[in-house]
Amino acid sequence: MTDPRNDTLIRALLREPVSFTPVWIMRQAGRYLPEYRAVRARTGEFMTLCQTPERACEVTLQPLARFDLDAAILFSDILTIPDAMGLGLYFEPGEGPRFRKTVSSQADVTALIQPDMEDELSYIPQAVRMITQELGGKVPLIGFAGSPWTIATYMVEGGSSRDFRRTKAMMYSQPEVLHQLLSRLADAVTTCLAAQIDAGARVVQIFDTWGGILPGPEYRTFSLDYMQKILDNLAAHTTHKVPVILFTKNGGQWLETMAGTGAQALGLDWTTDLAQARQRVGDRVALQGNLDPAVLYASPDVIRQHVARILDAWGGGTGHVFNLGHGIHPQIDPDRVRILVDTVHELSSV
Ligand code: CP3
Repeated sequence: MTDPRNDTLIRALLREPVSFTPVWIMRQAGRYLPEYRAVRARTGEFMTLCQTPERACEVTLQPLARFDLDAAILFSDILTIPDAMGLGLYFEPGEGPRFRKTVSSQADVTALIQPDMEDELSYIPQAVRMITQELGGKVPLIGFAGSPWTIATYMVEGGSSRDFRRTKAMMYSQPEVLHQLLSRLADAVTTCLAAQIDAGARVVQIFDTWGGILPGPEYRTFSLDYMQKILDNLAAHTTHKVPVILFTKNGGQWLETMAGTGAQALGLDWTTDLAQARQRVGDRVALQGNLDPAVLYASPDVIRQHVARILDAWGGGTGHVFNLGHGIHPQIDPDRVRILVDTVHELSSV
C-alpha cells in the first residue's frame, strides 16, 4: 500500500507474516475499464493487443493506476500457445475465441508446431520485461498459462463449448491421442512459464478453467498429472524459485490432492467454503479467492458485507490472497472494484 515496494502477495503465498490481505482480480485489465476499451478500439484485434508489447504493457498497468491492487497480471491469453502451435486463433465479435484448424487425430497432433519463446511467442517475454521495468518493483507481476487440459478443450472443440463433446469423446475413445496432445502442451506451457519467470514474473498462475467438468479419476489423469509435470519441470528449469498458484475452477472436492503437487497456493471459486478449505489443506498451501464476481453488481454495502464474510471465513493470519472466484464481468462498474479493494485492505489490516 504505502510501502514503495509491496511484496505482500509473495509473502502471503509463501505463508510468511503480512500486515494486510493482498488482493488482485482475475481479468483486472479488461472490458469493464473504459480505458481498456479505448486501447482495444485503437488497436483493433484482441490478438494484436496481446502481440504488441507496448500495448500489452499499457493495459496491464491500467487497473493499477486506478486501484490499490497488490499485483499486476500480464495482459495476454491462455490461447496464445495453441495459436503459436499453428491453429490460427481469431475472435468472432460477441462469439468468443475460434480456431481456423482443430485437432481431431494423431496426424493433427504430429503436425503441431512446438512454439519457440524467441520466435512465435517472443512477444510474451518482451511484454513481461517491459512491464517489470515499468513497475520498478512496486508490486509483483503475475505470469500465467492455461492448463494443458483447458487449452486442449479449445483446440479439439475449435472454440468455447457447452458440453465438451469432442474432447470427452476423444478422452474415452482415443485416450492415447489426447495424452500426446496434453504432453506437447505440458512442454509448451513449461517453456512459456519459464520464459515469463526469466523475464521478471515473480508469481505464476495455471488457469485450469475446465478441469472441474471431469470425473475424479479423469481429472487426475488428464488434468492434474500434466499440471504436476509442469510444476516438476519448472522446479528443475528455472533459476528463480517462484510461487505457483493452481486454479481448477469447480475443483473444490480435490483440494487435498492439489495441495500435494508442490504448488504454493490453490485458487478457489465461490462454490467452495473458504473456512472448510483452510481446514482441509492445513498449512500445506496458501488459498486464493473466492468472492462470487456477481457480488460486484450489488450496492457498496452489500459488497462490504461479502468481503467481511470472506475475511471472517479465512479467520486471520497469513496464507490468504483475496480474489474473485473467476474473472470479473465486463458489465461491472469500476467504482465497485475500488470499494472491494479498499475494503479488503481496511478490514484485514493488523
Ligand atoms: O486476468 C487478466 O487481467 C489477464 C489477462 C487474461 C485474459 N484472458 C485476457 C482476455 C487472462 C489471465 C485470460 C485467461 C483466459 N483466457 C482463460 C482462463 C481464465 C478464465 O477466464 O477462465 C480462458 C478460458 C481464456 C480464453 C478466452 N479469452 C475466452 C473464452 C475469451 C472470450 C471471453 C469473453 O469474455 O469474451 C478470451 C478473450 C479475452 N481474454 C478478453 C480478455 C480481456 C476479452 C477480449 C476483448 O474482447 O477485448
